[in-house]
Amino acid sequence: MKLKTKNLLTLSELTPKEFSQLIDFAIKLKKDLKGGKSIPRLKNKTLTMIFQKPSTRTRVSFEIAMFQLGGNAINLSTTDMQLSRGESIEDTAKTLSRYTDCIMARVYDHSLLEKLSEFSTVPVINGLSDSFHPCQILADFMTIKEKKKKLKGLKLAWIGDGNNVCNSMIYGCALSEIKMSIATPKGYEPNKIVVNKARQSTTIEITADPVKAIKNADIVVTDTFTSIHNRDQKRTKKFLPKYQVNSKLMEHAKKKAIFMHCLPAKRGSEVTTSVIDGPQSVVWDEAENRLHTQKALLVFLIRA
Ligand code: CP
Ligand code: NVA
Repeated sequence: MKLKTKNLLTLSELTPKEFSQLIDFAIKLKKDLKGGKSIPRLKNKTLTMIFQKPSTRTRVSFEIAMFQLGGNAINLSTTDMQLSRGESIEDTAKTLSRYTDCIMARVYDHSLLEKLSEFSTVPVINGLSDSFHPCQILADFMTIKEKKKKLKGLKLAWIGDGNNVCNSMIYGCALSEIKMSIATPKGYEPNKIVVNKARQSTTIEITADPVKAIKNADIVVTDTFTSIHNRDQKRTKKFLPKYQVNSKLMEHAKKKAIFMHCLPAKRGSEVTTSVIDGPQSVVWDEAENRLHTQKALLVFLIRA
């Protein structure tokens, strides 16, 4: 299976069929791995990873993904690269393309990824920008499929900041026809262009009322109120206490609702310990599934 797109920068590059095939392939890879079966599908292939910002899950899961697929991953911090001395993205992209089979980059400004993908001849994957986090959403939807056995027709409530993860989540809901209800304080809504595009395929409700958003939800999701790229450290005040996912708010969701968070989490801020460490939380499966979905993605993007 080969994707139509060369790059994965937002998630909207995928067709609904590709999205569903990626998730099913990741579920198969997970089963194979647990059963001791591992095929070196990317033998002698190399992934170059560029980090402008810190990471635990993305870095480790991509590196282990390449290792388990029989390939190799190189980790570069932008401060160690000539980029930090003014070499252009264009020249960096052209150079790296002569060595490596794929580039994964975590950047502040999403437009840097667009430039990188424009000038590189190999696939470019977004490992988190200020606007999108597509790899996270692949893992999230794999987790939802594992837990709920289906995607279409479910209701997902996003509570808190309409941020980068939320933007890609909106595309994920559109691709799988999950109804999404987003509760944010005024001024913290997700990207309007993303919302309007997604509304062509599914229902995206935007409200300031978290109780309304979470009502009858099958899936409840939140993320940190202060992302790495946010300079205003006081922004958390705009969210508390109203937008905290706690046991009281969870009572409005379906009884069997699952709780998701991309991590890292700030307990006592966007979510309470009772919820994130409670029986409805699937955050560790979500974190694990980064590995399986990224393996599926790398195989689909790199293998000729
Ligand atoms: N969820 C996620 O991307 O985690 P890291 O920042 O640790 O990579
Ligand atoms: N919204 C968070 C996600 C971290 C994985 C951030 O951008 O920092």
